[in-house]
Amino acid sequence: MSAVSKTAKRITTNTLAKMKKDGEKISMVTAYDYSMAKIVDHAGIDVILVGDSASNVMAGHETTLPITLDQMIYHAQSVIRAVKKALVVVDLPFGTYQGNSKKALASAIRIMKESGAHAVKIEGGAIVQESIKRVISAGIPVMGHLGLTPQSIYKFGTYTVRAKEEEEAKELLSDMKLLQKLGCFGVVLEKIPAALAGKATASVEMPTIGIGAGSDVDGQVLVIHDLLGITHEFNPRFLRRYLNLYDEMKGAVQRYITDVKSLDFPNEKEQY
Ligand code: KIV
Repeated sequence: MSAVSKTAKRITTNTLAKMKKDGEKISMVTAYDYSMAKIVDHAGIDVILVGDSASNVMAGHETTLPITLDQMIYHAQSVIRAVKKALVVVDLPFGTYQGNSKKALASAIRIMKESGAHAVKIEGGAIVQESIKRVISAGIPVMGHLGLTPQSIYKFGTYTVRAKEEEEAKELLSDMKLLQKLGCFGVVLEKIPAALAGKATASVEMPTIGIGAGSDVDGQVLVIHDLLGITHEFNPRFLRRYLNLYDEMKGAVQRYITDVKSLDFPNEKEQY
């Protein structure tokens, strides 16, 4: 079997462009490890984001700023080993692309070479255009990220909805056009008014993936730990939980503890 036919069923950036054209919504979730990536890929997800939210949900940091390029590559390698179909996009972490396009390219090349990922995501618009341009010039697909960009949290001061005011909304629409012109294959729109997200989506040909951006976008992304209810203390309005795994898992571990202490586990059938 040739390499081409082996990968024929994979989701590519071209698949996403076609999905937008055909009006088919794009599904995207985060994953950071082999086991979770296997589940979401088998479930049929279109795009897996190895997000720098790993800094929060995997490492317990308050923000996404501390995670390093080496750590992102480690997560991406684990995900890639599991995935057969989804497009895998990896976040360039804070400090690896801002203000230095050569550094951005070197960071993106490390991710692509060392993990085997299919694309990278970069937060920001005009301010990081040189970095985006250089990464794309090396043949590396780039997904943009506008609206609430968590790597700039100390500039924003809060995680509240962005671009509610006209000036910031105008800037976002102009950044959309720029990202398309630079050749981004898609863009994440995080926590902006639904009407603005709809307008932004209609203004470009590249697909938009929303998180807290309403329904008039080309797809949706959620952090998998939020979707599954593992992170039970995080309750933004945009989040729909499909499970309450925090309680399920805690209950299971409590039952295990009880069984161990009561000598119920292991029983005769569970030993050699
Ligand atoms: O890192 C992440 O999980 C993200 C999503 C919230 C889009 O960037």
